Amino acid sequence: MKEFAKLIIDGKELTLPVIEGSEGEMAIDIRSLRQETGYITFDPGFGNTGTCKSTITYMNGEQGILRYRGIPIEQLAEYSSFVETAFLLIAGMLPTREELTRTSVYLNDFSLLHENMKGFYRNYPPKSHPMGILSAMINAMRSFYPELIDIDEDINKTYLRLISKIRTMAAMAYRISKGEKVVSPRPDLCYCANFLNMMFNNAVVPYRLDDDMVKALNIFWILHADHEQNCSTTAVRVVGSGKVNIYATISAGISALWGPLHGGANQAVINMLETIQKNGMTIKECIAKAKDKDDPFRLMGFGHRVYKTYDPRAKIMKKMTDVLLLKTKRKDPLLDIAKKLEEAALKDTYFKEKNLYPNVDFYAGILLRALGIPTNMFTVMFAIGRLPGWIAQWKEDVSDPETRLTRPRQIYTGNQIHDYIPIDKR
Ligand code: ACO
Repeated sequence: MKEFAKLIIDGKELTLPVIEGSEGEMAIDIRSLRQETGYITFDPGFGNTGTCKSTITYMNGEQGILRYRGIPIEQLAEYSSFVETAFLLIAGMLPTREELTRTSVYLNDFSLLHENMKGFYRNYPPKSHPMGILSAMINAMRSFYPELIDIDEDINKTYLRLISKIRTMAAMAYRISKGEKVVSPRPDLCYCANFLNMMFNNAVVPYRLDDDMVKALNIFWILHADHEQNCSTTAVRVVGSGKVNIYATISAGISALWGPLHGGANQAVINMLETIQKNGMTIKECIAKAKDKDDPFRLMGFGHRVYKTYDPRAKIMKKMTDVLLLKTKRKDPLLDIAKKLEEAALKDTYFKEKNLYPNVDFYAGILLRALGIPTNMFTVMFAIGRLPGWIAQWKEDVSDPETRLTRPRQIYTGNQIHDYIPIDKR
C-alpha cells in the first residue's frame, strides 16, 4: 500500500498521507494543503473529492456493484423487505426477529399525523408539486413534535417516526390533491401494503392488495434506500454539519432530490417517453437529438456520475417491471419505447464511448405506473425510499469526530477592488 503522495509546488515538496478504504479505494488526504502551500483544490461537482469516511454503502461504478453494509443489493432485493433494509442501514446490522417486530410496532404506533398538520395540505394551492409539500411538511415536524429533538427522546424512535409519517404524508397529499377522503393507516398491514392501501382504497371499490405489487414496492424502495454521497445525501450532510435539527436536514435532502438531474429524473423519463409517443418521434431521431450538443434534449434515465456500466439497480428494476406488467396483463406502450431506446443507445458509439448506460430511473417510472402511482408522485416515492439512507448518513455524520462544519473555498474571479460610484454619477 502507498502511504504517502508527494506534491511539488512552487519548488516546495509536500508529503501528503494516503487513506485506503476497506475495498481498496484510495484517497490523498489534503487537509494540510492550504495551510502548508496557500493552494486549495478545485473540483466543481466534487467528482474527485471524498467528503467523509463511511461504513454504510459501497458502490463501484466501473464494476456495477452496490452493497448496503456489505450486503449485495441483488440479495436484499430478493430476500429482504424495505423495513428490514432500513434497519440494516440505520443500525448497521440486520435485525433479529424480535428487533424487526418491535420496529414494525413502532412504525404502526407513529403512523398517524397531528390533526393540525392536515390543515397544511388543504391550504396549499391546487396543483402544487407534492415534493414541495413534502419538504415543507417534514420541516414542520420540528414545530409539531418539538419534544422529539430533546435529548430524552430515544433518537431511534425519531427515525421511526420519520419513516412512518413520511408514508402517511405522501399518501395523504395524493388523496387531498384528488379531492378524496383520507384513508387511515391500518395496523394489520406491512409498511408497503399499508401505503398502497392508503393511496388507493375507497369505499366504492375497495383496493385489492396483491403480493406482487407489494413485493415490487418493497424492491423499489430497497433499491432507492441509499446511494452513498449523491446530491441529496450530500445536502443532508452539508446542512446537518451546521447542527440544525434532523427535520430541517431531511427536508433539505428532499429539496435536493426534487431536481430533474437527480431524483426528479424518474418523472423526467416518463415525460420524455410521453413526448416521444405524442410527437411520433422515431428512436433514431431521439438518439440523434440526445447526441446533438446544440439541442437541450438528453436521454433522461441514462448516464450516471459514478456508474460507468449498467446500474445494478436498473437491472433489478427492469426485471421486476416485466414481472408486474405480465401479472397485471397490462401493456404499457412507454415500456416498448423505453426498451427500443435502450437497445439503440447501447449500440450507439456516442453512448458507448461516454459509458452512458440506463440508470435506476430509466425503468422506475414504468414500474411505478404499473403500481398505479401518478407521475407527479414519482419523486416522492424516491424520497420515501431514500429516507433511511439520509437518516443513516446523518447519524454517521453527527457521531463522526472528524466532521466539521462544511465550508468549501472558492476561486474568486470577479472584479478587483474599485471605488463605489454614487447613483447620479453612474
Ligand atoms: N444523454 C445524452 N448525453 C449525455 C447524457 C444523457 N443522458 N448524460 C451524459 N451525457 C454526455 C454529456 O453531454 C457529456 O458529453 P461531453 O463530454 O461531450 O460534454 C458526457 O456525457 C458526460 O456527461 P456529464 O453531464 O458531464 O456527466 P455528469 O457525471 O456530470 O452527469 C448525469 C451525470 C447528470 C446523471 C447525466 O448523465 C444526465 O444528465 N443524465 C440524465 C439525467 C438522469 O438520468 N439523472 C438521474 C441520475 S441517477 C440519480 O440521480 C438517481
